[in-house]
Amino acid sequence: RYAYVNGRYVDHRDASVHIEDRGYQLADGVYEVVGVRDGRLIDEKPHLDRLDRSLRELQIAWPVSRQALSFVIRELMRRNRLRDGLVYMQVTRGVARRDHAFPTTPVKPALVLTTKNTKHVGADTGPGISVKSQPDIRWERCDIKTVGLLPNVLAKQAARESGAYEAWLVDADGNVTEGASTNAWIVTPDGELVTRHTDNGILAGITRGTLKAIANDLQLKLVERPFTLAEAKRAKEAFISSATSFVTPVVKIDGEPVGDGKPGPTARRLREEYVRFAD
Ligand code: PDD
Repeated sequence: RYAYVNGRYVDHRDASVHIEDRGYQLADGVYEVVGVRDGRLIDEKPHLDRLDRSLRELQIAWPVSRQALSFVIRELMRRNRLRDGLVYMQVTRGVARRDHAFPTTPVKPALVLTTKNTKHVGADTGPGISVKSQPDIRWERCDIKTVGLLPNVLAKQAARESGAYEAWLVDADGNVTEGASTNAWIVTPDGELVTRHTDNGILAGITRGTLKAIANDLQLKLVERPFTLAEAKRAKEAFISSATSFVTPVVKIDGEPVGDGKPGPTARRLREEYVRFAD
């Protein structure tokens, strides 16, 4: 298995970065995760658009051109014989003697890519997952996909320790913002599909964006608004979305069954259509 590190394809076991990389010391960097299905990237363009936005928000330059990055992604996939799985890419501000402020002399942003093989998953949603609510203790720029993920890490760990797969983050108003690494959706008792609106409070998921278009095609009634944890617990259906989970039904919230406790028809349908889109 290869990794890509600053211009080189190296054995994953030997891949390393400098100890003064600002990503390592200060979480001063951004990342993307792009799903791969049957050897094809899912939604490459919007992922690279979001990377561009994250970089601009932090005033980090592109380490290589966008075209070159596209090539590197494909070359790493080829070398790793990646059919199904994901590509991880990370850009940090670069290597400089530690100081909170940006380096005053120009540094080259560091670019690292890895891939992960997963087994081919189908249109079937499987049995669904449990989620556990956790306070959303993150900062006010959750729209930037930075590698500063400690609140997400702690929330996910708390969920896992309670036997749940994902954490649903709840803000000071009692609203579910999103998952630790996924977007959150519910279907209300009157059949409204609800996911929180995007602003600085959540990451605008690429999968979320594609699902919006699919929901529109299916003429589902989609509303982007906040929803409380209490509303989620009363919902007919709930599910999560991300590049890695596609659409995965949530069948339990804090140990209480959602709806009849089984994956619902809306989640199943959206999953089917998403897989069709990715194929
Ligand atoms: N996570 N919200 C958060 C906080 C995320 O970290 C992610 C993605 C999403 C879903 O976004 P998308 O549909 O673009 O994957 C929402 C990636 C998969 C990760 O950190 O591994």
